[in-house]
Amino acid sequence: MSVQSTRRQFTSAAAAASVAALLPRGVFSASTANKKAVIHADQEIGTVRPEFHSNFAEHLGSCVYGGMWVGKKSPIPNVNGFRKATIDYLKELGVPVLRWPGGCFADDYHWRDGIGPVEKRPRRVNIHWGQYTEDNSFGTHEFVEFCRLIGSEPYFAANVGSGSPQEMRDWMEYCNYPKGSTLSDERAVNGSPEPFKIRYWGVGNELWGCGGAMRPEQAATEYRQFANYARNFGGSPLFLVGCGPNGNDARWTRGFMETLGNGRMQGYSMHYYENGTLPPQQFTPEAMYTQFNMFPRVEQAIIDQRTLLDGYDPARRIGLILDEWGVWDRIPQSDEQRNGRLWQQATIRSAVAAGLGLNIFNRQAEKLYMCNIAQMVNVLQSILLTDGPEGKNCVRTANYWAFLLFKGHRSKTALKVEYDGFRLPPRPPVFGGGRGMQQPPEPPPDLSMSASRQGNEMLASFVNPRHDVDMTVECSVRGAAIRQARAEIVHDSDLNAYNSFDNPNRITIKKHEVSAQGGTLTITLPALSVATVTMQVA
Ligand code: AHR
Repeated sequence: MSVQSTRRQFTSAAAAASVAALLPRGVFSASTANKKAVIHADQEIGTVRPEFHSNFAEHLGSCVYGGMWVGKKSPIPNVNGFRKATIDYLKELGVPVLRWPGGCFADDYHWRDGIGPVEKRPRRVNIHWGQYTEDNSFGTHEFVEFCRLIGSEPYFAANVGSGSPQEMRDWMEYCNYPKGSTLSDERAVNGSPEPFKIRYWGVGNELWGCGGAMRPEQAATEYRQFANYARNFGGSPLFLVGCGPNGNDARWTRGFMETLGNGRMQGYSMHYYENGTLPPQQFTPEAMYTQFNMFPRVEQAIIDQRTLLDGYDPARRIGLILDEWGVWDRIPQSDEQRNGRLWQQATIRSAVAAGLGLNIFNRQAEKLYMCNIAQMVNVLQSILLTDGPEGKNCVRTANYWAFLLFKGHRSKTALKVEYDGFRLPPRPPVFGGGRGMQQPPEPPPDLSMSASRQGNEMLASFVNPRHDVDMTVECSVRGAAIRQARAEIVHDSDLNAYNSFDNPNRITIKKHEVSAQGGTLTITLPALSVATVTMQVA
């Protein structure tokens, strides 16, 4: 199938320069492209695990302190110290799994600091994120309570870098042993007689970097030793996650897996951020495309890493986890000073990026176990933003709405799709040395889509990542007949638009036009949009 640009595209391209001068900064005039797509309703890929829409909350900036946790005495509306707005919004969205306390922070966190009477908890310096002090008022019990309030399953990241196998094993006993041991009885004294039944345990984080600057062989050796002392202590079977690569680092995975041998491991984590070269609200189309063009590389990394794992684990007993992902822009110092480290504004660009990522997870459903966006509140590609540690406001970001648009895919079966669209860009050519060498311009990104089905309900999600092209997609459905279709969209024509505290609902989900006739769905996706079509099929 080929991209059929209409005549209008060329005429409007010629007129674009003069029209552009009249438009506000960040808004561009759009031409139209016609696209063809096919959903194969009878070709199943795998289950869209709800866990693909999981989240991550680190002790970093104002994610925990001042974000989700404001303290019991705060004038900000709260439930037992948890910011009420975060509970309400996250409950509505549904966060299947929540990973905590880091990130880099995890490998310098000692869980005993965060239990017992709050006034006796030590103040510690957060060495990774600005050397400020934390009073540990948010610890194990608080985290588990927060997860229960929002209906999320807790996922702990244990300390390998500066911790010990005993420390991790004791944390497991403290959380999961029903009663009668000193540690389980201490948990009861601290307010939780019932065991927490924590299943997910990360064994260290980024051991190749902030988690200990290890070689893969050393990381796997540490893993074997830590896992050797891990027990479920009477709870549900443990799910231990080993530290995988930064991006698509094959050498790391080979080194780790060779050394792991028959060491037991249920999950293997990889991290992949899509870096941005500009501050979040000052993106140019070129910078945006550079960032969007990382998504096909993420997809390739998932394929490659799963293939590598298959070599060691052909029965796929080990689940591949994209433990951290998201857009990581060049954050202005002033934002960080005011609101905390890595506080990043979320524009329509990041909602589009979220859509690109979530489409990948659907298309690669059978290769993935869980994916955690970084992070839940205030940090990087956040779902919610507050105005810093002291701030009263809380807004649902453009990312929130993109995630909500994909919620209907959860637990459905992903289907094979074919479309004119986003392909893996060729790797940038490597030029010889020399300063100021011109890099070739990024190719523009293109349509992205995915689909899923359960019984008579079928969903298709589309992303138009172009800032200057509206896309009319004619999507035929094979293997099922469409009875009804409705569409919802997240869109803004200004690539730097965002939900501010003054205008918190600028970007939200809106109803959108779609037609379904004779087995073909037709939808026009305005520039910079994410849309989901829900169909009743027979
Ligand atoms: O999410 C921010 C940081 O990114 C995490 O602490 C670390 O794991 C990663 O490098």
